Amino acid sequence: MAERSAQKARIAILISGRGSNMIALADAVRGGSIPNADVAIVISDQPNAPGLEQAKKRGIETLVIERRGRTRAEHDREIIAALHERRIDLVCLAGYMRVLSSDFIDGYRGRILNIHPSLLPSFPGLNAQKQALEEGATVSGCTVHYVDETLDGGPIIAQRDVPVREGDTVESLSARILAEEHKLYAEAVKQVLEETE
Ligand code: GRF
Repeated sequence: MAERSAQKARIAILISGRGSNMIALADAVRGGSIPNADVAIVISDQPNAPGLEQAKKRGIETLVIERRGRTRAEHDREIIAALHERRIDLVCLAGYMRVLSSDFIDGYRGRILNIHPSLLPSFPGLNAQKQALEEGATVSGCTVHYVDETLDGGPIIAQRDVPVREGDTVESLSARILAEEHKLYAEAVKQVLEETE
């Protein structure tokens, strides 16, 4: 992103579902709390991802590149082409449920972010909130990190604690963590863009 200089950073957000973190980022950009940036595109690997409608409502270009019928390498090649075409500076994974190929990670190293609903390195992978409850954790939270070849193991950018309450269910804990995710992701993106300006 060094060559970006005075231009706005062009962000792509990859989703697979609900897209609430995508909405939080898009609204933070629009509201000015992530300054000097544009959400240039939202890409989904799922044609029915509810987040797509939310992106359209906000006037953001959307693109579906279905994972079905494509190998990971083919799928990622199409995504990379779409990112190049739009001169994307930063890729934010927001509930994107397909592991990236090494070509994708290599091509955008240090420029792909992910949000995960636990305090990494604790509880990587699926069902992080359920893992935390089953482990009897008293504190969980969320993490924004760079994406590398490891599963949820790339360098950590920001974390936020969320206490586990007595009687918490996966749903109640997930909801409280999600509220923090939305704030943390926007703060982390702002920080990363400032560092790379
Ligand atoms: C979030 O909990 C995020 O941390 C995880 O997947 C969930 C996506 O939710 N990676 P949403 O689609 O952003 O609402």
